[in-house]
Amino acid sequence: MKTYLVTGGAGFIGSNFIQYMFEKYDNDINIINVDDLTYAGNLDNLNSINDRENYKFIKKNICNANKIRKIFLSNNVDYIVNFAAESHVDRSIRNPEVFIRTNVMGTLVLLNIAKEFWQQDDDNFKKGKKFIQVSTDEVYGSLEDKHDYFYENTPLDPHSPYSASKASADLLVKSYINTYKFPANITRCSNNYGPYQFPEKLIPLMINNALEGKKLPIYGDGKNIRDWLYVKDHVKAIDMIINNGRLGEVYNIGGHNEKENIEVAHIILDTLLELLDKEDNRKKHIKKNLIAYIKDRKGHDRRYAICPNKIKKELNWYPETSFEEGIKLTIKWYLKNNQWMKKITSGDYLNYYEEMYH
Ligand code: NAD
Ligand code: DAU
Repeated sequence: MKTYLVTGGAGFIGSNFIQYMFEKYDNDINIINVDDLTYAGNLDNLNSINDRENYKFIKKNICNANKIRKIFLSNNVDYIVNFAAESHVDRSIRNPEVFIRTNVMGTLVLLNIAKEFWQQDDDNFKKGKKFIQVSTDEVYGSLEDKHDYFYENTPLDPHSPYSASKASADLLVKSYINTYKFPANITRCSNNYGPYQFPEKLIPLMINNALEGKKLPIYGDGKNIRDWLYVKDHVKAIDMIINNGRLGEVYNIGGHNEKENIEVAHIILDTLLELLDKEDNRKKHIKKNLIAYIKDRKGHDRRYAICPNKIKKELNWYPETSFEEGIKLTIKWYLKNNQWMKKITSGDYLNYYEEMYH
């Protein structure tokens, strides 16, 4: 039975990954979730699996080498799936340090301890072990030509402190692959959306604001393009890469689903109008004039777009959820889980929101 050490499993993608894995493998796997529960970590995301005997939650910082070593000493870890990160670009512009600590130093700690426990002799690692570095398309920088795409061999050109920290971590993983023949894959995915996403990110922020009758803040001219992928398609790709990805390879994950931010805002408003009951009081807030153009993000990348041909060809992965379907599923989830949203948008979130948008 394989044991997965998932870091950052209480966050958005990590919690979707853990749920997907138990739905698929049930009692045939063990998962240890190591998460430090920063503002973005939320154990409510894992309510459905908390009581499983083959699941363990450990509240620890991935930078804490002694604690991570202890986990390796008492468990036979087969896979590390490293989701743990500071993940929000706007926060990185305001406070880069913690991004370097977690995203770079934390990854180095995990690499070193996995190497310590998995390496047999100089160039040999125990069979069946693998480290998955969950990275991002942002490491490639920004595309100016609308016919251009990010390929796995596109040179890294990160622009924000967040993407610079993720690119640094990628380079560390790559250096371990090259130097030690360390068994790893790097995945670079485009923008995710779906259940359990923290409302600092565009889509849940717009849904929440629209339901509360608050402005939908659009940076700059609203024409920046992101390539949106439903989170379940992302976690499915990660599972495929764990099982069948060639050691040492980078895999881009994305679905040719490019949209301008302003288009996304309109789709959210239209979908809310379609899904809310006539009697629902919140429906009266939903108006196009909620959209408000505000000051641009510093160094705002213009366009991201993934070429997913490699993962399609090698692993037969393709995105199963269209944006039209995914955004409906997402909005329905947020409507049903109003309490989840209420709980996380009290307290610290209010201070963040105030500082960011006023
Ligand atoms: P998130 O911010 O929702 O979750 C991050 C999780 O990591 C949280 O649970 C947090 O508590 C935990 N964490 C943070 N610092 C930690 C530390 N030092 N030690 C232990 N745990 C810590 O992020 P997400 O959107 O779920 O992203 C997960 C990963 O996927 C990140 O590495 C991110 O770079 C990458 N990624 C995200 C997207 C996206 O669109 N959200 C796209 C591509 C790649
Ligand atoms: O591309 C993958 C990346 O996608 C991940 O690596 C990051 O972790 C994730 O946060 C995301 O980064 P973005 O910066 O693209 O996502 P965000 O949701 O913050 O913004 C999406 C777009 O919407 C971007 O062009 C900025 C814009 N935006 C965002 C917010 C929060 C606005 O116009 N208004 C807003 O209030």
